[in-house]
Amino acid sequence: MDLGLKNRVALVAASSQGIGRATAEAFAAEGCHVAMCARNQQTLQAAAEKIRKQHHVEVLAEAFDVTDSAAVSRFVAAVAAKFGSVDICITNAGGPPAKGFLSATLEDWQHALDANFLSTIYFAREVIPHMQRKRWGRIITLTSITTKQPVADLVLSNAVRAAVVGLVKSLANEFGKDGILVNNVGPGFTTTDRLKELARSRSSASGKNEQEIFDAWAADAPLKRLGEPREVAETIVWLASERASYVTGQTVLVDGGMYKGL
Ligand SMILES: NC(=O)c1ccc[n+]([C@@H]2O[C@H](COP(=O)([O-])OP(=O)(O)OC[C@H]3O[C@@H](n4cnc5c(N)ncnc54)[C@H](OP(=O)(O)O)[C@@H]3O)[C@@H](O)[C@H]2O)c1
Repeated sequence: MDLGLKNRVALVAASSQGIGRATAEAFAAEGCHVAMCARNQQTLQAAAEKIRKQHHVEVLAEAFDVTDSAAVSRFVAAVAAKFGSVDICITNAGGPPAKGFLSATLEDWQHALDANFLSTIYFAREVIPHMQRKRWGRIITLTSITTKQPVADLVLSNAVRAAVVGLVKSLANEFGKDGILVNNVGPGFTTTDRLKELARSRSSASGKNEQEIFDAWAADAPLKRLGEPREVAETIVWLASERASYVTGQTVLVDGGMYKGL
């Protein structure tokens, strides 16, 4: 199936590792020009170099923190200057720590808002004018299954990510007339460093070993396994493609069926 993405410009935030990195690779495999960022310069440049060599595409990679609105603005301008525009923007950041309500500090709440909500706004504000000029664009927020179903001890994610969904639906409504499609992708438990971190935290809280925690997560999904970053990435790429041209304002879970609702 031709996804119609060749030569599109795909910006993937927080993409040196995990799902972001798999998403940058998946866009490169479709022949997109790719723009990547993360805080650690060394890990980011290594990831970018691997993608360049493997897929023979142009990759712009810059190290900065997505909670820095001025840095986001400079990056989007640099991407547009290098590639001519920004067609696709995947917003992403590291997930908040696993905490119950009374253990979460006000600093935790502020950071979760900065990283997991406001950073989405910083990117959207910068990329939408480029997309309006081309009358074509895709914004996809990478969030979590928590947008549909709260996860125990992830109160920061459960609460803050709901705001992202409100934003996604609002942007989809406001900018559909400009050919801009806005959707949200929510991974379930997916094998990345973030999941190892969550397993460690659950393990020390429960006394179970980390393997037992992973096994319990896998058992909770009808597919009886954890997800792979590639599986989330491929859903994102499909949503960005011409093959999903009448899909906007939606949340798509990539969770092996773990969400219990209809
Ligand atoms: N894995 C799962 O099971 C799962 C499930 C549901 C939701 N999610 C969510 O999906 C998102 C991605 O998760 P993941 O598992 O791929 O995480 P990951 O493996 O920990 O990778 C996170 C990536 O984001 C970058 N990053 C983190 N904070 C950043 C910041 N403030 N500014 C710029 N870059 C930043 C990291 O690089 P640097 O550290 O160098 O910045 C890294 O490249 C997270 O929001 C996570 O909560 C994950």
